[in-house]
Amino acid sequence: MDKILVHGGNKLRGNVRISGSKNSALPILAATLLTKDPCTISNVPDLSDIHYMLQILSQLGASVERASGTVRTQAEEIKSEAPYDIVRKMRASVCVLGPLLGRMKEAIVSLPGGCIIGDRPIDLHIKGFEALGAKSVIDHGNVHLSATELRGAEISLRGKQGPTVLGTDNVMMAATLAKGTTIIDSAAAEPEVVDLANFLNKMGAKIEGAGTRRIVIEGVKELHGADHSVIPDRIEAGTYLVAGAMMGTEVRLQRANPEHLACVIAAVRESGYEVDTIADGVRVRGNGSPKPLRLTTEPYPGFPTDMQAQMCALLCQTSGISVITETVFPQRYMHVSELKRMGADITLEGQTAIIRGVPRLSGAPVMASDLRASAALVLAGLQAEGVTEVNRVYHIDRGYESIDEKLNALGARIERVKV
Ligand code: UD1
Repeated sequence: MDKILVHGGNKLRGNVRISGSKNSALPILAATLLTKDPCTISNVPDLSDIHYMLQILSQLGASVERASGTVRTQAEEIKSEAPYDIVRKMRASVCVLGPLLGRMKEAIVSLPGGCIIGDRPIDLHIKGFEALGAKSVIDHGNVHLSATELRGAEISLRGKQGPTVLGTDNVMMAATLAKGTTIIDSAAAEPEVVDLANFLNKMGAKIEGAGTRRIVIEGVKELHGADHSVIPDRIEAGTYLVAGAMMGTEVRLQRANPEHLACVIAAVRESGYEVDTIADGVRVRGNGSPKPLRLTTEPYPGFPTDMQAQMCALLCQTSGISVITETVFPQRYMHVSELKRMGADITLEGQTAIIRGVPRLSGAPVMASDLRASAALVLAGLQAEGVTEVNRVYHIDRGYESIDEKLNALGARIERVKV
């Protein structure tokens, strides 16, 4: 298991190329199961979560070839049961449910457990599949879906915490091959949902309204192969935006889409940093006297929960009192106790974090607990005095392509050590 040593205090300057979006690539790869034809997906990031998804596709019977960032798949004949040993490694494996149900009218996938960022139910996914006419049974830890045929329906996917991203993806994928029209109300509007809908439409699906709260899907008999390039990763871009604000003289995020980052850019600007749109992405410049912020995470287009931990790291050393409220995953504060070990002054009150800026953080051994929390610890380490040792780095490798190399190319000093 690798660990990362971050030597704090180095200024950042230069260009960083933003990779393809993990959260787009995962459902798009799953969607290739909807057709017997070959599909070519490019700009696929090299991440462990992507490797798990490719393994799941292979085990379901698809042929999978990968050359640098391009993946070719062909799911000529497939099974409807996904193997537990791989599925359990990644919660996003649930996004094979929709394509399997759509094409095979049956899907057996092990039920995801909770995870460190809280309870992760799939009741809304199941509600959507049932509205399309599927029966669901939970048995021996698996969810078993079956239908004689899928019929279009009007479905609300609004849960207690708002819309569901993978739930919207899943129901949209199954509904492409249902008879008649499906309307998803309270749909997730994340750019990754739009990217998936664009890919499905290239495959012959008839989807309108992706990116709004109401998606309309006209079912078709079958889908065909298609080629698609995955959008840039807005959360990776947001993470480097925060790194650039913290330690940058000037950092350019090449290929970052400023529209997808609007809320994050607005927050970083409000804190006093200079952020501009440039020809091939976004540029951020440091600021000697940043201001504290009040932030609330919300479904897109609101401030993303996947950027909450990184903003927390930024605000730890911003003088004054900042307040973050997490509404999407109210328990998503595992990074807080680790940041406190580095000298941060953060008080948690339910789903709200009150951050009193301190003049310095000091490097310490810390434990990565989930993907974005790990990124926050690396960011805090860039600013801290001395060395921050981030353990359990496999979490970070799930979602950041070569984070150590990319930050080092900007001027950071990060070592990856095999333990
Ligand atoms: C996706 C992202 C994840 C991001 C999250 C919210 C991927 C692979 N992951 O996760 O990075 O943090 O969106 O933007 O794209 N919920 C229910 N019932 C359900 C499903 C969800 O109550 O059936 C709740 C969840 O517990 C959570 C909220 O709805 O409180 C949003 O979760 P959801 O949008 O489903 O997250 P994911 O799609 O799993």
